[in-house]
Amino acid sequence: MSAQFPTTRLRRTRAAAWSRSLHRENTLSPADLIWPLFVIEGQSEEQPVGSLPGVSRWSIDLLLDRVGEAIELGIPCVSLFPNTPADKRSDDAVEAWIPDNLICRTVRAIRDRYGDAIGVMCDVALDPYTSHGHDGLLDENGYVANDITLDALVKQSLNQAAAGADIIAPSDMMDGRVGAIRAALEQAGHANVQIMSYAAKYASAFYGPFRDAVGSGDRLKGDKRTYQLDPANSDEAMREIALDVAEGADSVMVKPGLAYLDIIRMARDRFDVPVFAYQVSGEYALVEAGVAAGVGEREALVMEKLMAFKRAGCAGILTYYAPFAARILNV
Ligand code: PBG
Repeated sequence: MSAQFPTTRLRRTRAAAWSRSLHRENTLSPADLIWPLFVIEGQSEEQPVGSLPGVSRWSIDLLLDRVGEAIELGIPCVSLFPNTPADKRSDDAVEAWIPDNLICRTVRAIRDRYGDAIGVMCDVALDPYTSHGHDGLLDENGYVANDITLDALVKQSLNQAAAGADIIAPSDMMDGRVGAIRAALEQAGHANVQIMSYAAKYASAFYGPFRDAVGSGDRLKGDKRTYQLDPANSDEAMREIALDVAEGADSVMVKPGLAYLDIIRMARDRFDVPVFAYQVSGEYALVEAGVAAGVGEREALVMEKLMAFKRAGCAGILTYYAPFAARILNV
């Protein structure tokens, strides 16, 4: 028995619901959520993603309804990912900077319909556009070449900003890309376009269903370990974040989420910058598989995981559960 007992009883404040509510240290709200959405060509098309039960790719007209739903639910931002038709993929990824490519048409359609009622974030990386599924351009040895990729990422970013993107989110992990993109945005008059860098993005086994959703999985030869972080490392993640902040990132992301809560906490403790987490496709699919196997209730499992991100110090969370969670939080 400790010396403080019974003076100190930690169960005292837990005894009633009102008291648990009063003493709750962290909160979750729809305003903490960013909803990733997959877009496809076509009209009135909904294509369920086989490996992500409950998640679909939408043609622009139907995706607009999802964005309307997000606004109604109080979700402040959506993140867009294109499934580029095979004939528009190439080794040099030129589709990424064509002004009326799928993603830019989507951004403009959202702007036309909803103005600035919601934030629009665009991923920057070449994997939706390359024939080989890598995030960058390959040199003659098949190595993802850093510096020529930077030029491509800058063109892609400027293209998305011109279409009306509010947040440019480089997910490619090339060295120097945040600085290059920031400088180009300033020069092009996009001073208020934010950069949320995927600063600590790991070479993870949890991205499988996403690659299926954007159609890059089957093409990908090898892995992304020459550019994404080694899951064994945390000091290196802090160096990545420090560089991205110095280069002008407005906020940073840790990805995947749940297996990297320590990285989120370290980042919060070391840097005065908003930290976001991406609860990635494999994390979502594992919950769904668990629910189907009777491990627990979806609502309880999802809300506990999302709260863990807040507790770890996140400003917000990218999650395919955004509308599901927002509906629960809004009652
Ligand atoms: C592409 C990108 C990936 C994700 C977001 N942007 C996949 C990858 O790096 O291979 C993963 C998201 C998810 O798994 O939900 N650069």
